[in-house]
Amino acid sequence: MNLQVKSFEEYQQAYQLSIDHPEVFWANIAEHFTWKKKWDRVLDWNFSEPQIEWFGGAKLNITENCLDRHLENNGDDIAIIWESNDPDEASRNISYRELHQQVCTFSNVLKQNGAKKGDRICLYMPMIPELEVALLACARIGAIHSVVFGGFSAQSISDRIQDAQCNIVVTADGSFRGNKEICLKNIMDEALISCPSVERVIVVERSKSAISMEKGRDVFYDQEMSRMESLGLTDFAAEPMDAEDPLFILYTSGSTGKPKGVVHTCGGYMVFATYTFQNIFQYKKGQIYFCTADIGWITGHTYIVYGPLASGATSLMFEGIPTFPDAGRFWDIVEKFKVNILYTAPTAIRSLMAFGLDFVKNKDLSSLQALGSVGEPINEEAWNWYNEHIGKKNCPIVDTWWQTETGGIMISPLAHLTPTKPCYATLPLPGIQPILVDEKGEEIVGNGVSGNLCIKFPWPGMIRTTYGDHERCRTTYFATYENLYFTGDGCLRDEDGYYRITGRVDDVMNISGHRIGTAEVENAINMHSGVIESAVVAYPHDIKGQGIYAYVIMDNATHDPSQIKKDISATVTKIIGAIARPDKIQIVSGLPKTRSGKIMRRILRKIAEGDVSNLGDTSTLLDPAVVEKIKDERI
Ligand code: WT7
Repeated sequence: MNLQVKSFEEYQQAYQLSIDHPEVFWANIAEHFTWKKKWDRVLDWNFSEPQIEWFGGAKLNITENCLDRHLENNGDDIAIIWESNDPDEASRNISYRELHQQVCTFSNVLKQNGAKKGDRICLYMPMIPELEVALLACARIGAIHSVVFGGFSAQSISDRIQDAQCNIVVTADGSFRGNKEICLKNIMDEALISCPSVERVIVVERSKSAISMEKGRDVFYDQEMSRMESLGLTDFAAEPMDAEDPLFILYTSGSTGKPKGVVHTCGGYMVFATYTFQNIFQYKKGQIYFCTADIGWITGHTYIVYGPLASGATSLMFEGIPTFPDAGRFWDIVEKFKVNILYTAPTAIRSLMAFGLDFVKNKDLSSLQALGSVGEPINEEAWNWYNEHIGKKNCPIVDTWWQTETGGIMISPLAHLTPTKPCYATLPLPGIQPILVDEKGEEIVGNGVSGNLCIKFPWPGMIRTTYGDHERCRTTYFATYENLYFTGDGCLRDEDGYYRITGRVDDVMNISGHRIGTAEVENAINMHSGVIESAVVAYPHDIKGQGIYAYVIMDNATHDPSQIKKDISATVTKIIGAIARPDKIQIVSGLPKTRSGKIMRRILRKIAEGDVSNLGDTSTLLDPAVVEKIKDERI
């Protein structure tokens, strides 16, 4: 069996096989990889603990699949094209051979700096090739990487480092984002005050701005690399890993205040990342593929690094932002590198749309063959714009539904094969068994129905645990409905059996494709000394998809309202990061609560949406008058 299906009929056959004989199906897929030892069992599982084991007994190293196996015949192929934030700075091409050598050398750097198999290493870096090198070097030595997105605050980094007890950090002096510079090292230094587990900090020099280097703790990336070269340490035998050994931790928000460390493992994740990449994008050797995500999120892990590299693809990595130096930057990049496949987010499309067609019209986009969308439901207007003005009605759009926890794409068209429909993620991949259930967990059968989206059978890329707290994994994903993985998303299945994701059904917001919990933002707001209580909800936002609306009760002191709002924003930026800053803050004197003290978010959501005509039943409220007041003072 091929790794890649080549027609819609082949897709249907593969899907049928994957339902009838899942183990046969996945074993066939897994044959396409380099294993140091083959598996004894394809799958062991139960969803009640949960206990999930794919390719049990197998040994591998994912970096041999991403690097070594391409060397003999394709070593000079370009693995990474890197485009700077600054359009005038030279781009870089890194071949598989060069990348292999850098990863091996940095593996030695990690080892010489005390890293061991199983250690947790935090990466807090700009979008530069050194980030990919560091990531792959962790995997090569068997350390577990935990990438923290460069937009997070010192407090957020510190929480994540402490949770995973990281002993090594890789960071950079600064990162360029448009015409701003973010001083990553300064932020990291602040985070590390409360992280005694960290013994070594390796610093890439990117911005060349002034930083402080702590004696005995901090070393420079380039100096360490040169030191290895002078010692002749430029090769590194990849550590044999059990298929179920953890590969990485990636923190993501849920409906409680504390982000959880989603754990992915070496074997299953590798198989799933590569299989999905090749099938969904129908990647062909030689194509230039550009995913605009940041490696700080799962999309970057799976579809900039692991999936493309394990496929021998050329994966373009962009350091900057879509609107610098102007809103034509993505299209300049497509033209400059003759990009064939572009994978981006609805929020980026909407923000570029708002700048008008001037930034698109003189760009040569004729190299494009397929387009992708990820992160949130894509609205029809954005879908049509993407289709007409970027794809020139000639490129399929793959609307890919998945999650940090799923490791890779679950429901999506296969480019050129699956007939698409605007706003629909269409059909599940072979191997994926979605099911819709009602509130009670009863299956909703047939077509033209909607419900809560669950998955009823394991897939190799699925979450194995939440780091340090397996019970949390069980209660969050496997306890809502018996024997099902619950996604947290609502979904409809139309008359054709096509799936359309309608959005979260829990207290998780999706702000510009970033996942943020309402409780997390409330906790941050409540850190402000004048705040008594707060309630946060999402509301529809033209560009971001959702915006953050915060209702805040202040203490009795006199506050200048505009000052207090600025201060609350600053507090959230400090505790979480600028991505979680509320778009609207309304100071209120009370919140709508039931007699048992529960905040009625449904009402707050309606008010934030501007839909105040029918607030539903408010008779169970402790003080219905509160609602009238909030309504009148709505922003
Ligand atoms: C949540 C997962 C998947 C990588 C990026 C986000 C929403 C994701 C789609 C889509 C509608 C989508 C869901 C999901 N989502 N893709 N194509 N259509 N909604 O990963 O931060 O783990 O967020 O993003 O609500 O549960 P994440």
